[in-house]
Amino acid sequence: MTHEIAVIPGDGIGQEVTPAAVEVLEAIDVDFDFVEGEAGDAVKEETGEALPTQTRELAADADATLFGAAGETAADVILPLRDVVGSFANVRPARSYPGLDAVQPDTDLVFIRENTEGVYSGIEAEIDEGVRTLTRVITEDASREIAEFGFRYAKQNGFDDVTIAHKANVMRQTDGLFLETAEEVGDSFDVDYDTALMDALAMHLVMHPEDYGVVICPNLAGDMLSDLAAGLVGGLGLLPSANVGEENALFEPVHGSAPDIAGQGIANPSAMILSAAMLLDHLEYGDEATAVREAVEGVLADGPRTPDLGGDASTDEVTEAVVDRL
Ligand code: NAI
Ligand code: MG
Repeated sequence: MTHEIAVIPGDGIGQEVTPAAVEVLEAIDVDFDFVEGEAGDAVKEETGEALPTQTRELAADADATLFGAAGETAADVILPLRDVVGSFANVRPARSYPGLDAVQPDTDLVFIRENTEGVYSGIEAEIDEGVRTLTRVITEDASREIAEFGFRYAKQNGFDDVTIAHKANVMRQTDGLFLETAEEVGDSFDVDYDTALMDALAMHLVMHPEDYGVVICPNLAGDMLSDLAAGLVGGLGLLPSANVGEENALFEPVHGSAPDIAGQGIANPSAMILSAAMLLDHLEYGDEATAVREAVEGVLADGPRTPDLGGDASTDEVTEAVVDRL
């Protein structure tokens, strides 16, 4: 069986790390048909559109999508792309790896971020000169869907602790509904869970990440807490993510186009390659996903490493080392 994969490298280091992930997928024994599409700043400059219809259709029709990163147009690319694949859950694992000099070496977290609403509803207005508002949307349906996904994920992946992040003491209506709904879901699962105010949680995650496992978050909290966790484990070059929908899914590193290092061939491809491993899991190639993860872990432990991790290797050298281990 051949799987069609939409490949959208985008801008900056997206152009460098996406081919690395494709190379790794080509090295394993699964048939893929890679179809490339354009998106981001460069294609907007050319055509006026950050996400051309052709690319949108590519992602809609493919079995899964690999996306690198976009630059300034990121919101115009990734929000509609997440929409195209119908993704309601953004899964962001943040783990520390043996041998790497992490701030917190005992971190093994997975953020399950609600991907469609909250303050990213896009409903903003200028209601008066110098006064702008934003409508924060929380629905019971989306809250239930993300909580069910999070608890199921915890059960399937052997996590015995779930935390529901919220700020219901202040955002009583919106996060009140999120919390209430997620707790109701939690009560129906055979998994221990806790609730935490998201600001205090940020502090606890920095000091004692080992106390946490799966963290179910409203949209913005998930975005911020997962970047915070990236800092605990060695930087954005290590964090993959999956945007999962009912039928379709899109895989991307958590990082952006990194204009400060783009074009130098030194971007860390690990986040993108680990995103490809999540794609393999999604298509039910669990053994192959594990093999890719172990190859990346081996290279992170023994080198070569890119400069963000203190080494002097190039993106290509790290990718070759991963492929060799496969
Ligand atoms: P960024 O993630 O691109 O970079 C933040 C820092 O991390 C930079 O110092 C960068 O060099 C480093 N970094 C990131 N990925 C790395 C990797 N693989 N290897 C080594 N170092 C890495 O975030 P920033 O600087 O806030 O945004 C840059 C551009 O990316 C902006 O135009 C932003 O809009 C866009 N962006 C796009 C996203 C997406 O497409 N999903 C997500 C976040 C930002
Ligand atoms: Mg972000």
